[in-house]
Order: sequence, then structure tokens, then C-alpha cells
Amino acid sequence: MDKIKITGGNRLEGKIFISGAKNAALPLICASLLTKDTVTLTNMPLLSDIKSMNDLLEQLGTQIDCFDDFVDGHSTKTYSYRTQEATSLTAPYDYVRKMRASYYVLGPLLARYGEVQVSLPGGCAIGARPMDIHLSALEQMGAKVEIINGYINAKVKGKLKGCHITFHTASVGATCNIMMAATLAQGTTTIENAAKEPEISDLAELLTAMGAKVSGQGTSTITIEGVKELHGVAHKVIPDRIEAGSYAAAAAITRGKIELINAQTQTLQCPLQLLRDTGVKVSETANGILIDATNAKLSGQDIMTDYYPGFPTDLQAQFLALMLTADGASMVTETIWENRFMHVPELLRMGANINVHGHASAIVRGVKKLSGAQVMATDLRASFALVLAGLVAEGETTVNRVYHLDRGYERLEEKLKGVGAKIERISESDELAAE
Ligand code: UD1
Repeated sequence: MDKIKITGGNRLEGKIFISGAKNAALPLICASLLTKDTVTLTNMPLLSDIKSMNDLLEQLGTQIDCFDDFVDGHSTKTYSYRTQEATSLTAPYDYVRKMRASYYVLGPLLARYGEVQVSLPGGCAIGARPMDIHLSALEQMGAKVEIINGYINAKVKGKLKGCHITFHTASVGATCNIMMAATLAQGTTTIENAAKEPEISDLAELLTAMGAKVSGQGTSTITIEGVKELHGVAHKVIPDRIEAGSYAAAAAITRGKIELINAQTQTLQCPLQLLRDTGVKVSETANGILIDATNAKLSGQDIMTDYYPGFPTDLQAQFLALMLTADGASMVTETIWENRFMHVPELLRMGANINVHGHASAIVRGVKKLSGAQVMATDLRASFALVLAGLVAEGETTVNRVYHLDRGYERLEEKLKGVGAKIERISESDELAAE
């Protein structure tokens, strides 16, 4: 398994290009199942989660082509998806187990074919991750849903029926799934307590361009008027706000100065304000956002995760890491996932001072220095927190289980090296050769 080796102590300075958003791209790929035409997605990130989703769609009968492309002078990927007819209506366990977001095929396939089987994902490192909201909404739309042999079997006679649905929690996944399902339903569907994340607005924009009638995205009430069919389009994926926030934390923790090219301030209001409160200068530039922590004396701040536009749970681990060397105490409260402090025991091994209280809160007391260690990545975002600690720790830090990072950070070492970090990937084959 690959590892990442970091020698800490370098101040980071320069520009980092922010890739297309993984969490926007995954439902967009699945929306292509709603039409027999070609859907082309540009500014796609090169990530293992995208590859996993592509593998699943190929298994369902989608023809996928990939092209090298450029966005604002930076190399990216463009993918085109064409599902003239699905050859399978089953998302098997082996695919879903690798990536939970595979459940995004549920809504589109049920809407187009009236039938689908998706392996129930089960929990993961950060929490139980139920799917009751998705399934209850589909039942309210007329589907018969059963769990058989670990699979969700959903069927509907004729078309799904539009109706008024109120989610008990503003779930991102359920909002995307039900929005997609409702585009081809009979009549109008209203989702109350819908999630408001920018990735949902991006999906609504794609669906609208495909001929769907969606309104209210970005608010807690989304309305979808069903249409007979959708057509192909080309769409550019929005920049990844979580990747941008992660590199903003890298600039701040190293007291560096990084311009995040393509990052959008409007999708990052809460984390950017937190950086300002911590003592970092944040400004909008013609091409993105400038994070300037040169000579900054960082002061600890409290963080509480919340649904968008609140502080994103997917930046909690990285901003907790930022507080490790800030002055004073910071209370970090996680409200979305029940097990999202797995990075803490690893950070303690690097000399951090953190006390976790129950499942929801951690108190970080700033320390003068961290020291490099061998650490283990536990999930995608937690892994980046370890990288951040490694960037300022004295000596060498080795982050094991790098496959977590490859799920969500495109060319991480290259991007960090480009702004002055001393970082390298040690592949398993390098290690074997060295033995
Ligand atoms: C998405 C993101 C993930 C992020 C999360 C919250 C993708 C691929 N993943 O995950 O990175 O951390 O949003 O911003 O976009 N819930 C239920 N029942 C359900 C569904 C969810 O109770 O049927 C609860 C969950 O337990 C959790 C909360 O709703 O407490 C939010 O989950 P949800 O927004 O669905 O997360 P995902 O879409 O899985």
C-alpha cells in the first residue's frame, strides 16, 4: 500500500489549482442514466471515487469516453456518458462496498426503468449512514421497496408519482436521489427540508439543462415537475469547496500564502470567516481566493459543524488540525456524523493536546510544536488532517493507507510540492525494491 512521507517545517507559498468537486461529480455521473443521449461532464477530477463510479456505470451498460482537457490552462478530464439502454439494473455489493455514493443510481434507474436493485451500503468509519430517507421518499412516490439478501429492491408499476415529501433530516444524498427520481415522475414533487449544499444546485443546473423542471435548489424547498424524457448536454462541474478549504488550512497552518485558483468564496463563507477569526488574511482575487497567514499569530477558535451554509463536516478534521498549533483552546463539535474524531488518536501520537468528550466534542489546546510520526489514515478527510500536522511537525511524518486520500484529493503530492512542501509518495513497489 502506498504511503506519503512529509518532512515538516516548510512555509507554503504559491498557487494551487482547485479541481472539480468530487461530491458534485458523483450524482452528475448518475444523472446521465436518466437519458439515452450523451451527457458530457467537463472539469472532472481525477480520483479513485470517480473511477469506482465509472466502473459501476460501465457494468450497468453505459458507454464512457474520457478525454484530456484544459480548464483555465490546467489539465483536467472530460468524460462523456451514454446509456442508450441499461444492460443491468443491479448495483452489486462489490461496487457499493467500495463507494457508498453508488446509491445515486437508485433514483435515476427506478425513474427510467421502473425497477432497480442496489446493495445496501452498511456503515463506514464515520458513522452508521442510514438510507431510510431515500427509501421512504421513493415509497411515498409509489415504489414498492424491499430489502432482500442485503439488497434494496425497488419497483414501481408505470411511473413514479409526484408528491409532497418532508425529509426528517436535510440529507444531501437523499435530496440528490429524489430530485433525479422526480424528473421523470408523473406530476410534481416537492421536497421540504431539502439539503442546500452547492453540489445540489450543480445537479439541479445539469438536470434543468437536460430538460427537467427544477426550482428552489439552494433553499430548503425544492420543486420538480416531472417531464416525459430528458436529453443530453455538456456541463462543467463546480470547483471542489472541500479541497479548497483543505488547502486553505494548509496555507494557514504553515503560516504561508496560497492563492486557491478557481475556488469560490460564496461556497466557503463559514470556513473563510473562521480563518479570519483565527488571524489569517482572506481576500478574493480575480482567479480565486488568497489565503495569507504570513507572520500570523493564530488564535484558537471554536468550530461546530452544521448543514450548509454552516461549517462543513467534511472540513472538521482539517480545521481541528489547524487549531493544534494555534494559541489557546478550541472546542470542536461534530453534529452530523457520530464517529468523526478518528484522526484524534493519530494526532496525539504527534504531540497534539486534544481531549475528546463523548462522540461529539473535542477540546484542542494549542501546543508549541508537533513531532513527526508514523500515522494511519482512517478516512478521506481525516487523512488530510494528518498531512496538515505533518507539514508543521518537526522531522518526518509517514501517512499510511494513502488510498483514502486518493479517493478525494487529485494529485495531492504534486499540488503541495508545487507550493514548497517536502512531500513524496512511496509506492509499495518502491518499498519492495528498497528491501
Ligand atoms: C454527503 C457527502 C459527505 C458529507 C455529507 C454531509 C457525498 C458523496 N458525500 O454524504 O461527504 O459528509 O453529505 O455533508 O456527497 N441520514 C439519515 N437517513 C438517511 C440519510 C442520511 O438519517 O436516509 C442522516 C445521516 O446519518 C447524517 C445526515 O443525515 O447524520 C446527513 O447525511 P447525508 O447528507 O445523507 O450524507 P451523504 O449524502 O451520505
